Amino acid sequence: MNTDTPNFDSLARAYRWLEYFSFGHMLERCRFHFLKRCLHARHALVLGDGDGRFTARLLALNPTVTIDAVDASPAMLAILRKRARQSSREADARLSTTEADIRRFTPPGHDYDLVISHFFLDCLTDDDLTTLIARLSPRMTKDAIWLVSEFCVPEEGWRRLGARMVIRSLYFAFAILTRLRVRRIPNYTQAFHHKGFHPVDKASYLGGMLVAEVWKRRSHQYS
Ligand SMILES: C[S@@+](CC[C@H](N)C(=O)[O-])C[C@H]1O[C@@H](n2cnc3c(N)ncnc32)[C@H](O)[C@@H]1O
Repeated sequence: MNTDTPNFDSLARAYRWLEYFSFGHMLERCRFHFLKRCLHARHALVLGDGDGRFTARLLALNPTVTIDAVDASPAMLAILRKRARQSSREADARLSTTEADIRRFTPPGHDYDLVISHFFLDCLTDDDLTTLIARLSPRMTKDAIWLVSEFCVPEEGWRRLGARMVIRSLYFAFAILTRLRVRRIPNYTQAFHHKGFHPVDKASYLGGMLVAEVWKRRSHQYS
């Protein structure tokens, strides 16, 4: 792995507990908010799923989906595979994992009808994200959806300051623990619009500090 790739290995085992300790089950609720929209997906690409809670749940609830999961952390991927096997007996046949830096990764499929990025786009810069969307877009089906869960700074109100402080603290912690170099959440809304996607559904948690969103390509953008 390149030296600029963040290393989440040391966090892998504790990741879930650190999350529950910091945010209770709010991130979990946000992650699973649009799960129902994934129940008929046929081929999913999961970006940076970490310890695999979403992947495992999707395998359990959708008996026919096949999933390609990519993450830079071998420790996270090991936990993801273990969790997937516990939730589905056919996990080995339906789940393929790749250890790679997503910024330099081209997925194997050409027919993804579901792309998932939960609390992962914040590990990318604006340029990384624009390039990633451009690379993945031709590999998605016409009706594909892209699920995003992300931290967000509310437009106004006292929560704005609180959200900024929380996000800044998280980046500070991840910079020390994982060597993540990104310092702010990329403007993924602009990047998606720029690449021909539009939002079709959205939910908020913690007064707007967490968002779950569904994006889809506009019909004239198919490649
Ligand atoms: C903040 S965690 C989010 C994990 C999970 N998606 C969730 O919902 O909690 C970010 C994950 O993305 C992975 N990651 C970060 N940057 C990456 C990159 N450039 N390429 C591949 N994986 C990356 C990390 O290893 C980690 O598992």
